[in-house]
Amino acid sequence: MSANLQAFDSRELRQALGSFVTGVTVITTLDAHGKPHGLTANSFSSVSLDPPLILWSQSLKAPSHPVFRDGERFVVNILADDQVEISQRFSRGGAEKFAGCSTRPGLGGVPLLGGCSAYLECRRISSFPGGDHMIFLGEVERIERTGRQPLVFGGGRYLVAQPHDIGPSPAEGGANIARLQAVRLATRALVGLSDELDETLGLGVWGNQGPTIVRWEDSSQPISRNLQTGLVLPVLTSATGLAFAAWLPPEVTAPLIQSELARDTDAAQARDVATQLAGIRASGIVRLVGSNAFADLYCTSISAISVPVFDQSGSMVLALTAIGASDRLDISEPSPLVTRMRECAATLSQRLGAPPADAGGPFPILPENRP
Ligand SMILES: Cc1cc2nc3c(=O)[nH]c(=O)nc-3n(C[C@H](O)[C@H](O)[C@H](O)COP(=O)(O)O)c2cc1C
Repeated sequence: MSANLQAFDSRELRQALGSFVTGVTVITTLDAHGKPHGLTANSFSSVSLDPPLILWSQSLKAPSHPVFRDGERFVVNILADDQVEISQRFSRGGAEKFAGCSTRPGLGGVPLLGGCSAYLECRRISSFPGGDHMIFLGEVERIERTGRQPLVFGGGRYLVAQPHDIGPSPAEGGANIARLQAVRLATRALVGLSDELDETLGLGVWGNQGPTIVRWEDSSQPISRNLQTGLVLPVLTSATGLAFAAWLPPEVTAPLIQSELARDTDAAQARDVATQLAGIRASGIVRLVGSNAFADLYCTSISAISVPVFDQSGSMVLALTAIGASDRLDISEPSPLVTRMRECAATLSQRLGAPPADAGGPFPILPENRP
């Protein structure tokens, strides 16, 4: 390849290729002495239905390459989502990969690994050189499916597959479906955002006891070793609670707000809740700076921000919350944290079909999200 075309290094190429998400297979075969060999491979792809052909490619440097190059048969074991350990085991060199592994012999005695999602037993019909890899074309002679969910690999990490159920808006009466969809969609977004920001993030819903965290994503500096899923928060002293108080209809939140105010009369006098909530709505975000209200949970003063996510009816369905020790969490505007949380909530709202602000809706549409 000419030098001026090679404007990327192999790390960048690997990262770009990692955007293409794949399943994970272990390809097994037998050598001339009947000894089993196997390696983890995600270069597997279907090629043809009639005749049934598949391919995969192997590094020429792999110690097991001569065995696959010379072998007549191989089995594509498509791993299930609980087989990360198997994937790791077969991605390491060494002779003992099969030790303690449940196997059974397939066609020609080639081992099938226990617990996989599917099996393709193949005869190798061609090999093609492809740079530093060899591409093997196999004819599928026997197949088996077990119904187990497949393991997924992308961006250099193991993933699990979930149906992509955010299509057209949920049908009539689908408020609950919409909320379930919102949680699924936001859960995925939260994983990516937590990786990017390296902050503790929570996903809050309005449960039957009030603001409830249904999902946490941890950071490398966890605020607590014991982040509780199902944690019910106060309305007026938590960022998540204040977000719901600001955007849910008052009749939903009023009973809890009243009882919190009744328990803490000083606060009731000091605070004009209506003004506070109006300020939150105007800024589009809850900002809690240096709160000691959770000292028993987090053993430190915390800061937090919370942004609302809306559904197609314009109702708030979720709160995205970031929380951290107040001496390190930068919740100023426009810190990367605040900017990305706002963007994430707006993108989720848009994907859930919420009407944007310029159509009378509750959330500001972002320039990059405009059709
Ligand atoms: C998710 C994943 C996918 C992989 N895909 C391939 C692949 O498609 N081809 C390949 O040659 N190596 C691939 N590898 C690396 C091999 O599994 C690894 O080099 C293995 O040690 C080779 O086995 P061997 O040492 O017995 O030859 C992959 C590793 C992982 C973790």
